[in-house]
Amino acid sequence: MDYENKLVLAPMVRVGTLPFRLLAAQYGADITYGEEIIDHKMIKCERRLNEHLGSTDFVEKGTNNVVFRTCSLERKRVVFQMGTSNAARALSAAQILCQDVAAIDINMGCPKSFSISGGMGAALLNKPDLIHDSCSITCRRVADRPRDPAKWSEIADVVAALTIPVIANGDIFEFDDFQRIKVHTGASSMMVARGALWNASIFSPEGKLPWEDVKREYVRKSILWDNDIKGTKHTLKEMIMHYSCLELPEGKALIKSESLADIAKLYGEENYYQFVQENRLFNGSR
Ligand SMILES: Cc1cc2nc3c(=O)[nH]c(=O)nc-3n(C[C@H](O)[C@H](O)[C@H](O)COP(=O)(O)O)c2cc1C
Repeated sequence: MDYENKLVLAPMVRVGTLPFRLLAAQYGADITYGEEIIDHKMIKCERRLNEHLGSTDFVEKGTNNVVFRTCSLERKRVVFQMGTSNAARALSAAQILCQDVAAIDINMGCPKSFSISGGMGAALLNKPDLIHDSCSITCRRVADRPRDPAKWSEIADVVAALTIPVIANGDIFEFDDFQRIKVHTGASSMMVARGALWNASIFSPEGKLPWEDVKREYVRKSILWDNDIKGTKHTLKEMIMHYSCLELPEGKALIKSESLADIAKLYGEENYYQFVQENRLFNGSR
């Protein structure tokens, strides 16, 4: 994949599923990372074509549990992010889905104890023998947390030391920040997580759309791609907590929602929900 001058949606657990990746791409993201998925989980999956949705699903064998869903629309820009501590297992997991994604990324940045104690995420940084090369460099040290300011100057040092493309990230909240971090660090490409979670239209050079509009578009895409209700609720909660408050009626109703039908009702998208269901039945019966 070409990493020159690209705007990249960062990996985000429970957020970066198919509807959110397509949302970011609609507004201008060139490359979209999926949420981190652990290799142990992936090797238990089988590939299934979902004719109802037109998606390719990786489903835990013997269950209907969709671990990763993708579709041909994103084939050339989706990056699958894997959590792993073992090269052979990572390879087995990668072989299951490599034909359906543009690239596979190994998470070497996550500082959370779940990852580190399993020898994954940032723990890999202490095992250079296990690592070949990586082109995505995060902007914080392992002990840093999101509230700590990103260290753009340190990325510049990394860029200067390497010949491979570097993707810089950290504290991008407006479209203009993409250019600022690029100039400051000399990186090839720029990646955003929270700025996109709160308003995915950050990728648009025309400026951000009102977050209410972006939220509605996300709801529609969640319905269209039959997203996991927990993921949709989590993502909507994050948006609401940033711009408003979960204690208000919208937040309270969201917390009570148990299905995409409930979410559709909450956002006045019942007709769209109905339309999608009817078309799926029609497609499925042909
Ligand atoms: C909700 C959320 C989930 C995240 N999940 C992942 C993940 O699955 N894998 C990963 O490498 N980083 C993950 N991150 C870290 C981000 O990809 C990114 O490196 C970090 O948030 C800094 O970028 P930002 O300042 O644009 O938010 C996550 C961050 C957030 C906010």
